[in-house]
Amino acid sequence: MDEKARSLLLQNRAALAKDIRTAYIMDHMIGDEVITPQEEEKVKSQATHIDRAQRLIDVLLGKDNRAYVSFYNALLHEGYKDLAALLKGATSIDVTGSIKAAVNGITSFVKTALCEGGVPQRPVVFVTRKHLVQNIHDCLYSLSNDPGWVTVYGMAGCGKSVLAAEALRDHQILNDCFPGGVHWVSIGKQDKAGLLMKLQNLCTRLDQDCKYSQRPPLNIEEARDRLRMLLNRLFPRSLLILDDVWDPWVLKAFDVQGRVLITSRDKSVTDAVSGMKHFVHVDSELEHKKGLEILSLYVDKGLEELPEEAHQIIEESKGSPLVVSLIGALLREFPNRWAFYLKQLQRKQFKRIRKSSSYDYEALDEAMSMSVDRLKDDLKEFYNDLSVIEKDVKVPTQVLCILWDMESEDVEDILQEFVNKSLLLYCDRNGRSFLYYLHDLQLDFLTERNRDQLPALHAKLVSQHQKYYSCELPTMEQEDCAYWYHYLAYHMAQANMHQDLRSLLFSLDWLKSKMRLYGPAHLIHEFVRYRDILDKQDSKTREDFQEFLSVNGHLLGQDSHINLIQLGLSQPDDSMVYKQSILQAKEELQHGALYVNWINKQCMKNLASLAVRPHSEAVYHACFSHDRQKIASCGADKTLQVFKSETGENLLQIEAHEDEVLCCAFSADDRFIATCSGDKKVKIWNALTGKLIREYSEHSEQVTCCQFTNGNSPCLLATCSYDCTLKMQLWDIDRKYCLNTLFGHSDCVNHCRFSPDDKYLASCSMDGILLIWEVSSANEYKSIDVAQSFQSKNESQFLLKCCSWANDCSRIMVTARNCLYIFDVESSDLVSELEACHQSITILYCDFCTSNQIVAMALSHYVVQLWNIDSNTKNSRIQCTFKLGSLCSIFQ
Ligand SMILES: Nc1ncnc2c1ncn2[C@@H]1O[C@H](COP(=O)(O)OP(=O)(O)OP(=O)(O)O)[C@@H](O)[C@H]1O
Ligand SMILES: [Mg+2]
Repeated sequence: MDEKARSLLLQNRAALAKDIRTAYIMDHMIGDEVITPQEEEKVKSQATHIDRAQRLIDVLLGKDNRAYVSFYNALLHEGYKDLAALLKGATSIDVTGSIKAAVNGITSFVKTALCEGGVPQRPVVFVTRKHLVQNIHDCLYSLSNDPGWVTVYGMAGCGKSVLAAEALRDHQILNDCFPGGVHWVSIGKQDKAGLLMKLQNLCTRLDQDCKYSQRPPLNIEEARDRLRMLLNRLFPRSLLILDDVWDPWVLKAFDVQGRVLITSRDKSVTDAVSGMKHFVHVDSELEHKKGLEILSLYVDKGLEELPEEAHQIIEESKGSPLVVSLIGALLREFPNRWAFYLKQLQRKQFKRIRKSSSYDYEALDEAMSMSVDRLKDDLKEFYNDLSVIEKDVKVPTQVLCILWDMESEDVEDILQEFVNKSLLLYCDRNGRSFLYYLHDLQLDFLTERNRDQLPALHAKLVSQHQKYYSCELPTMEQEDCAYWYHYLAYHMAQANMHQDLRSLLFSLDWLKSKMRLYGPAHLIHEFVRYRDILDKQDSKTREDFQEFLSVNGHLLGQDSHINLIQLGLSQPDDSMVYKQSILQAKEELQHGALYVNWINKQCMKNLASLAVRPHSEAVYHACFSHDRQKIASCGADKTLQVFKSETGENLLQIEAHEDEVLCCAFSADDRFIATCSGDKKVKIWNALTGKLIREYSEHSEQVTCCQFTNGNSPCLLATCSYDCTLKMQLWDIDRKYCLNTLFGHSDCVNHCRFSPDDKYLASCSMDGILLIWEVSSANEYKSIDVAQSFQSKNESQFLLKCCSWANDCSRIMVTARNCLYIFDVESSDLVSELEACHQSITILYCDFCTSNQIVAMALSHYVVQLWNIDSNTKNSRIQCTFKLGSLCSIFQ
């Protein structure tokens, strides 16, 4: 250790020994690996706190400079600013960087794990909230062996995200509970397309070497399966952090039996998912003392040296850590302005910006306004430019380099100024690149303040993009690539650059690249979102493109060999897609390319005999009535719809449940329809009138499937649920309760089916087991451990999704991921096994044809396949044209 450092320690030994509490200090030092647990034990074994402190100083004197720095940082962390000041004079301590040094007081293991996981950096000035961090740690420890959810909840801006990140900045917890690492995803308010984009980014991040798939998942269902596989195989025992979750439905996409930490303003967000749940409440106000600590760190003064105004500033800030930080940053520059800033805060000139933001700190607007007004003019302009960022989006430096036409170092310097003033937040990707973002409330403030200039600011970003890229398209290697593909159209729309938006979305090159990188869902979403703008001149062009994407998007998303122009040439001659394709084809022809133009388009038969689009969101299930006259369908829009199979005429449209409707089924006599839902309920409807006849609330988790018997026995209804049980209901109008509850599965039950003769009921579950029950006794007849039979494969293969009986009841098939297995019911032997597609794709539904030989499968990449089981050959392959994946198929 430095002579100077040593002598400072010796000089101040008495003062240090008198005051410090060694336990917390040593936590930091152990984390920094500068003292060993044995040394800690020795210190702890001393009788009094003075003795313990003396002992620690003795240990320290035998160490190097690193230990001295760690001790110094620990003092700062634990609020012993005065004592830390006594040690500041040592040459080994960079005095100016004292705050930074404290920030870096974490082990390199932690640093790497957090950077790789995209965990945001601490705010420049940071105070520990030990008690809350400890509460989060306690919950996280209970995830070390079992999957589950920890929800950190509290009011807007009360410090949840900062706390969640802080809880991870801990060597021991990462080492003990999450050796697989951590993965941070900012969620925010999302729609389906936005969520899919987040999932795609996460999957790409987790599978950087494209080990499991060359392309991102095309829909949320597929993304969830991909995520499950990636977490299981590449990152076992890792923690997923979902920051700022608003809607419970979002969590279903992450319901993959993993370990999840959530921050949310709403305690009940996890209601719709299954598994162990833990909660940590963050008080809406930062304690008074902590607020003072933030100020004292900013102005570099002891707590007792702070003027009276400091207390009042905290009062005015209503305990908002963000407001206190903004004022603190101002005071750092102008230390004599306590009274002035207090007066400003009290002015209450600004009303709350947006009542809907549920933000209750009136002082925020004052504080933001003061901070922004104090910026130098050029910086103010740069800061205003950030108003165009969409909420919950982290922007890579490169985007801002393009916006400001500057080198990345200059851009980072500017942004660091904002970070220092608590006006901006950032994540560090291992020093390779930085991502910047604004807190929701800062963005609300900025957009409100610059309301009139917003179109111009968006236009500036778009024109800078056009200047930089001219005719080129961003490619995957560029760190700003994803940003442009996802937000360029948004900026154009906000800038009122309608013509540019049309040119962009109607450009085959743009479509091709975006589709290849991110699939069709987001593009289709943009066509819907900007429909009014795109339709201004005529609606046909948009319709042509949208139709083309809906029908062919999945092809372009999955196979890089498929040529978009050739595909465009197959469109009707009056389609704008065809017209553009033929122009491009002619041009490329001159450079030696070869294209085939269709001459017999009129003779082409459309495979689909009827297309109906009754639902406003994803369709989860559809089935024929037994007389084949009707089709019932249900889905994410919570409705049940019934229409004529011949004409598509809508017969019933029922707001059926309070959550997504997951399955529906006709009774054998077609008089009733059953539905079940994420709201845990099962309902029975009159199939003619749509009247609700009965409602059952006996399941304790979402109900995934409902099936009636086939008419060979008294009418029974079976339902299965994520609560691991099946219920069998003797269906009769007067019966209000279930007949039998079938216990046997140890994990969520996905699907159930009565055998065609109604003697048995089969059920399959995430526990990898196919159970067959005897209907008359409700006893277990047979258990086929599909997972056990294939131990060589990874366990995630065997989350059994769907089962179906052969018509003669002799065989039963079950699907798991991309594989299908057929068992002989009598002997339980495996009869056939086939891998239907690439492992990144999932079989969502399967069904036997009545001939027993042909099997239909609906796959997650919008494809329906027919297989001849006896020969294991694919009979034909129907490219399904639904936009949101075909989730089920039923033979009739
Ligand atoms: N412990 C802390 N020390 C210093 N500043 C803090 C602390 N916690 C929060 N802050 C400040 O308050 C701001 C808001 O905190 P944070 O983003 O964690 O709030 P939140 O509760 O997640 O808000 P939201 O509900 O909007 O997601 C931070 O950007 C930071 O400036
Ligand atoms: Mg937050």
